[in-house]
Amino acid sequence: MMNKAAKILTLSAVALTLGACSDIERSRDLGNPQVSGGTLAQQVCSICHGDVGSNVNGNSINPTFPKLAGQTKEYLVEEMTEFHLKDRKDPAAQAFMWGIARNFTTKQMDELAAYYSQQPVTPYAGHSNPAQVAAGQKIFNEGVLDKGVPACMGCHGADAHGNGIIPRLAGQHADYIYKQLTVFNEDSTSSAKHPNATAEELERPHEGPMTMVASGLTKAQKHAVAAYLQTLR
Ligand code: HEC
Ligand code: HEC
Repeated sequence: MMNKAAKILTLSAVALTLGACSDIERSRDLGNPQVSGGTLAQQVCSICHGDVGSNVNGNSINPTFPKLAGQTKEYLVEEMTEFHLKDRKDPAAQAFMWGIARNFTTKQMDELAAYYSQQPVTPYAGHSNPAQVAAGQKIFNEGVLDKGVPACMGCHGADAHGNGIIPRLAGQHADYIYKQLTVFNEDSTSSAKHPNATAEELERPHEGPMTMVASGLTKAQKHAVAAYLQTLR
């Protein structure tokens, strides 16, 4: 009898240990610094940033949510840090990412960025308008000289794969790219309105050259370059 009771006790201790272990590996607790970035990616980020097939690979379907797959590690760390510090503050960033990033640790951000930067990008499968795509390609490769818009390629790379803190744009949702170009555009308008604008007044205060780039593009040109970028892989 004693033996059986001891066995049951041992078994339940093992079960408890396994339970605790799989809990931390399947935790959605954004407030627990012990949860790894890889686990958060599977359990939390995938809900919006994509969960295709059995892999959580950062290829979102809905263009409200940017693709993270294949993005540069440095840019991912930088953006997560900006959400964490509430620096990047367009309405969608505030509504979706501030709460998520509130308790990020440096280690979690590093793990999340490593994870997503290594995921393969699923090519865009929809239809596109060839004339619009061709117009966008010209803007990407050559800029718009008479408006002082430099070639996007010069910074984002010939294949738009990005480099360091300059983001990858290849394969990103056209609607997301267009939206960010309008965010940069609004920031440049507000800088012109308030020549001494502080970082608090800008929606993406680390945008650097992008205010100038975006303010030189018409709406149709923004849509064209976004349509082209979505077709790249
Ligand atoms: C409820 C939906 C939702 C969840 C969950 C979510 N995100 Fe986001 N995320 C968004 C939205 C929306 C944006 C775009 C914000 C904007 O338009 O500025 C975004 C933007 C980002 C960006 C910026 C990408 C870029 O190209 O600039 C990063 C990085 C990011 N999220 C990482 C994460 C990580 C890591 C997690 C999980 C810990 C996560 N997100 C969970 C909705 C979500
Ligand atoms: C002089 C360098 C430079 C040039 C030229 C440039 N970019 Fe950028 N771009 C950047 C940097 C740096 C960032 C990151 C800004 C930040 O961190 O907020 C960026 C960010 C972006 C983003 C935001 C991506 C995201 O995931 O949120 C888009 C979209 C973009 N650029 C499109 C373009 C297009 C289209 C062109 C050409 C018409 C262009 N860029 C030209 C440097 C450049």
